[in-house]
Amino acid sequence: PATTHYEFNVTVAQRAPDCFEKSVLVVNGEFNKAIEVVQGNILEVTLYNNIPPDWPLVSEGISIHWHGFSMNGAPWYDGVGYLAQCPVKSGTNYTYRFQVNEEPGTYFWHGHSGMEKVDSFFGPLIVRPSGPEPLRYDEERILLLTDNYHQESTPLTFGLNRPFDAAKQTNTSGGWEWVNVPQSTLLNGHGYYGDCAMLAGSNTAVAPKCNVTLQWVPPGRSSVLPYNSPSNPGCQRYNMTVEAGKTYRVRIINAGSLLFLSVCFDRHNVTIVAADAYPVNPQPVSCVDINLGQRYDVLLQANQPKGNYWINALAVNATRVGSPGGYGVLRYAGANLTLPTDTLLQPESVPAWSFGTVSAITTPDVLLDPHAPHPGAVLPVNESSLRPPKRTHFLYVNLTQPLLPTGQLRWALDNVATYGTPSCIPTLAQLQSDPSFMSRMAQASASGNTTSVDMVQSGSDDKVALYLSDGTPSPTYPVAGQRFMPLQTGDVVDIVLQNLAANANGGDYRGGGVGANRTAQEQHPFHMHGHHFWVLGYGLGVYNDSTNSSALNVHNPAFRDSFTIYKNGWTVIRFKADNPGVWILHCHTDWHLFMGQKMYFATSPEAAPQPPTDLPQCPSKCLYNFGAFDLP
Ligand code: C2O
Repeated sequence: PATTHYEFNVTVAQRAPDCFEKSVLVVNGEFNKAIEVVQGNILEVTLYNNIPPDWPLVSEGISIHWHGFSMNGAPWYDGVGYLAQCPVKSGTNYTYRFQVNEEPGTYFWHGHSGMEKVDSFFGPLIVRPSGPEPLRYDEERILLLTDNYHQESTPLTFGLNRPFDAAKQTNTSGGWEWVNVPQSTLLNGHGYYGDCAMLAGSNTAVAPKCNVTLQWVPPGRSSVLPYNSPSNPGCQRYNMTVEAGKTYRVRIINAGSLLFLSVCFDRHNVTIVAADAYPVNPQPVSCVDINLGQRYDVLLQANQPKGNYWINALAVNATRVGSPGGYGVLRYAGANLTLPTDTLLQPESVPAWSFGTVSAITTPDVLLDPHAPHPGAVLPVNESSLRPPKRTHFLYVNLTQPLLPTGQLRWALDNVATYGTPSCIPTLAQLQSDPSFMSRMAQASASGNTTSVDMVQSGSDDKVALYLSDGTPSPTYPVAGQRFMPLQTGDVVDIVLQNLAANANGGDYRGGGVGANRTAQEQHPFHMHGHHFWVLGYGLGVYNDSTNSSALNVHNPAFRDSFTIYKNGWTVIRFKADNPGVWILHCHTDWHLFMGQKMYFATSPEAAPQPPTDLPQCPSKCLYNFGAFDLP
């Protein structure tokens, strides 16, 4: 196969994507560099970390994950820091090299060692079919969405890492500090920090939040640039230019850190034709709800009178009142170079997000029926392989938000906030070099009729299986460690992700409640590495396998890599463990990932290839994924 080679020279630059200048990471000087590869080719990316070693951000190093790629047979190049490799340190380089056996479609690449993604280290990743493109359209456009903070990632995460103290919940007290909503939403790297204030107008619910959080300037900074200034050409709205009469494939990617977005093209309906890269039976919608990590390809017909139309990307989640909208312009060739005259869709006019009303817009998560992939695909994928096999394993996971004994607030799965590697080598290397690690997990599983094992850090390298999870809410006290599920190739796993407080002792600190009165406060966009999976169903309340499982869709469920777990509800996914390696399942809200909301699936590690000889080594003091922080 041919090789597609990219050099990624990563440096720090000052950019003002929403007219406020801050430090970002750029690749060869480009913000959100886009790359593409033909299916079946070798993708080779040499990452040069040229971030100054003393730059306070991402000091542990960086790595690249290919979001949505299954990486079958290439687990070492999946890019999760401390899991498959250690981060690529300042002044060093590393070459990712693997064959792209993925479905042609829309993906993105992003940093995955610490929080470098939040510092703009991501970009579109397109897989082209090796033969003719089977979808019919005239041209294509990428629409890369992200939320933009005026502060860089490290100071934001310092605030998240400080002990929680209810008495100190102000921004100046030195206690735990939430990052708040981002200051703007960017469309293809462009936005305007003043949108919220401008739009909020006299709306008394929204305006104060705009003033407080959106025009907030970090201490010591003053550099708000004039909007649309000729001296700052980057600081202007994104214009998507189209020609009347043509059909466009728009590849929408939500690469943000917090916001579940609803994207609408004023006066244009669109048709969803692919979800997370896989083609689906076409679904016409007026707006596209897209959660973090998701991608939708839509067809847009430029069939309106020649003119300018708003493109808006607004937060779906009602708990994010005050979130800035992102606005771009759909401009017909030959139209005046002016803003649209139509009234802007206001952020608060997006239907309040809740389980019952969400269909007022669209929630294609579970509604999209996949169909046979592109003809000419080199993969042995066919219609029947898109239908789920019968399950062999069942895992029930509670999403909890515990306080650790140290007072730090974490997100956790069954109260285990997962961090890093159990020893100071990449976890996959540990699994391969120490077979007893897998067998101890397997034994622990078998003896307790369980499916998941928690390895809790005690001392520097003495790991014990501390307790087990068997479908009932468990452990009763929170810890930082690693949650694993050991699997054999061929296992078919159903995972119930239950988004309700799990424990009477504050399993969900901010939701709380006991028994039937338990509540959760937010939805979570989860993503799994190494696999696409079927989204079998979702519902409100507590999942009960004996009554709910018969209603799951095992006939034509959506086939995704990123999905939503509803507030006060549950979602069930199924995947086939067909990819030896160790794979992470995590919340794609970057702040929740930082706070520990993840777990690992270890599938037949002995069957995975041997590590590349140049695999980046771990730092001598082995830290836990987020280097600047000491965990308990
Ligand atoms: Cu897009 Cu593990 O992430």
